[in-house]
Amino acid sequence: MKITVINGTEQRGCTFAMKEQLLASLGGGHTVTEYFLPRDCPIFCTGCKTCFYKDLSACPHAQYTVPIWESIMDAELLVFTSPTYVFHATAQMKALLDHYGKNWMAHSPQAPMFRKQAVIITNAIGQGMDKTVRDIKDSLDFWGVARTYVIKQALFQPQWEQVTKKRKAAIMARCEKTAARITSRKRVTPTVKIKALFTVMRIAQGMIDKSERRAGREHTADYLHWQKNGWLNGKKPWRE
Ligand SMILES: Cc1cc2nc3c(=O)[nH]c(=O)nc-3n(C[C@H](O)[C@H](O)[C@H](O)COP(=O)(O)O)c2cc1C
Repeated sequence: MKITVINGTEQRGCTFAMKEQLLASLGGGHTVTEYFLPRDCPIFCTGCKTCFYKDLSACPHAQYTVPIWESIMDAELLVFTSPTYVFHATAQMKALLDHYGKNWMAHSPQAPMFRKQAVIITNAIGQGMDKTVRDIKDSLDFWGVARTYVIKQALFQPQWEQVTKKRKAAIMARCEKTAARITSRKRVTPTVKIKALFTVMRIAQGMIDKSERRAGREHTADYLHWQKNGWLNGKKPWRE
């Protein structure tokens, strides 16, 4: 299996240890590509909107954003990790995800996403993990990722070495269970939620196009993307 890991911190601390546990639980024989933030995307989205009018290749930060996106597209399993910082994902993770707004279902989603699985890994001393998960899961859901699993754990210690054996055992059990679910799924199809989101976004594309045409404007790049993929005529990006 091809696995792309996006580490939302460069620290080799608790989050890194949890991610290593998941990779170990998945077993050998996989091709793993890892990115570390902010090292591999050390720049904020400036909001130029070029990607929305054209595509991601036109991003002024394409030297960072395109290789990571290509790796995401190539992978069968995506792993996103982030410690909880002030009740949310790290800013560097958000900065990367902002760059991929074009690939949201509201714009130009990519068909391979609807056949991928993903895992979000987070932890905290105590509080805020749900919003960390949400920060990442919103993007994965709106990219169309078929199945997303969550591994989260309150650690009550700032250093991995100080985390209790009981909590480490709970993390290991969660990683083992998640790995088993991922590897046992031979045919990856989207959840009902992802399919419903796609349907709503398809209807929205038609409505947006009508209003653009009424205003005397051309089809948007997003509308043409949906049209080219046949999704406006009943075709689906997942295996039926
Ligand atoms: C800037 C910053 C903000 C943090 N905010 C929170 C927080 O809101 N809630 C919490 O429980 N822990 C918070 N923590 C603690 C980290 O989530 C926790 O120590 C985590 O295990 C660090 O992961 P790491 O070892 O991979 O760096 C914060 C840590 C830092 C550095």
